[in-house]
Amino acid sequence: MSLLDPITIKQTHFKNRVVMPPMCQYSVIEKNGIVNSWHWQHYVSRAVGGAGTIIIEMTDVDPDGRITDFDLGLWEDAQVAPLKSLVSELKTYGATVGIQIAHAGRKAEDASQPVAPSATRFPAPNYKTPHALSTQEAEKIVQHFQDSARRAVDAGVDFIELHGAHGYLIHEFQSALTNHRTDKYGKDLALFGVEVVEAVKAVIPEEMILQLRISAVEYAPNGYQLDHSIQLIKRYMAAGVDTIHVSSGGEGPTGPNKLYAGYQVDYAKKIKDATNAIVTAVGLLHDPAVANAVIASNKADFVAVGRGILKDPYWTLHAGETLHLNTPIPKAYQRGFRIR
Ligand SMILES: Cc1cc2nc3c(=O)[nH]c(=O)nc-3n(C[C@H](O)[C@H](O)[C@H](O)COP(=O)(O)O)c2cc1C
Repeated sequence: MSLLDPITIKQTHFKNRVVMPPMCQYSVIEKNGIVNSWHWQHYVSRAVGGAGTIIIEMTDVDPDGRITDFDLGLWEDAQVAPLKSLVSELKTYGATVGIQIAHAGRKAEDASQPVAPSATRFPAPNYKTPHALSTQEAEKIVQHFQDSARRAVDAGVDFIELHGAHGYLIHEFQSALTNHRTDKYGKDLALFGVEVVEAVKAVIPEEMILQLRISAVEYAPNGYQLDHSIQLIKRYMAAGVDTIHVSSGGEGPTGPNKLYAGYQVDYAKKIKDATNAIVTAVGLLHDPAVANAVIASNKADFVAVGRGILKDPYWTLHAGETLHLNTPIPKAYQRGFRIR
């Protein structure tokens, strides 16, 4: 098996194993959550550049669920049609298109008062103390995830990724560091995420993949470890999640002690082994040989390349050249790749 081999999951075909992971562009200068010409150039160039999967950046279910006012959103119907045109264009280049649906929770930097499971501030300068959601307010956000998922389906995406990582709202509920509640969402740390999964599942086609991005471990003192995330994943899968995108951290300002190529791959492999999930590994995998080895050694089913693809829109085509693997070059660009 190689990085550029295709795979079909449920009824969705992926032309290769390369994923462009969600990467916020903070480029909605109009502050209306709607894709603009920047998003077109950004995503279309990566589709032309051969990425098998493009996951559109964190797209928020509420205006106050944005990291910044410049995020994409799916909190109202007017946001659907422009997104739909972009998704359709990406598909013409053979990309499978996902979108990451999210709520930033206490990390909503531009909200006048962010919301969170509990009123504990993200421990870094410039973050505000959040309002602790009432049970009813939390249930309303579950509903907003459902509404946004319905809009994503209307926009024609192939799959949806729920953002359960990096210290945003779903993650905040699933972590004892940020969830000090006494209601149903405090008694069961997985419950908010489970309700989101069930609500989303109810409005997407049966055959559509529902992916969840999770932080496999937290780095803050007393943060949760892999045993907890594996239990969470089992709950989320029982509720309807099909595939898992394995990241880490984001609950606080500190990260891993050491950063090295593939530093999160072992988490992906352990989650794959413990849950039988189809997994995407991510994190410093921009060396094509390393990315290919992750697939060849069956540590993950997909490899996401973030900053590598930011730096080089044609990363996948260049990886094919480097690895001497066959990957279709767009006809108009073939002479550039076959200089004799
Ligand atoms: C500019 C930028 C924006 C990002 N935005 C998001 C995001 O919207 N959602 C998310 O889950 N992760 C986001 N990330 C994290 C990436 O998806 C990825 O997990 C991370 O960059 C590690 O992969 P890499 O080493 O290949 O870059 C972002 C990363 C970058 C560099």
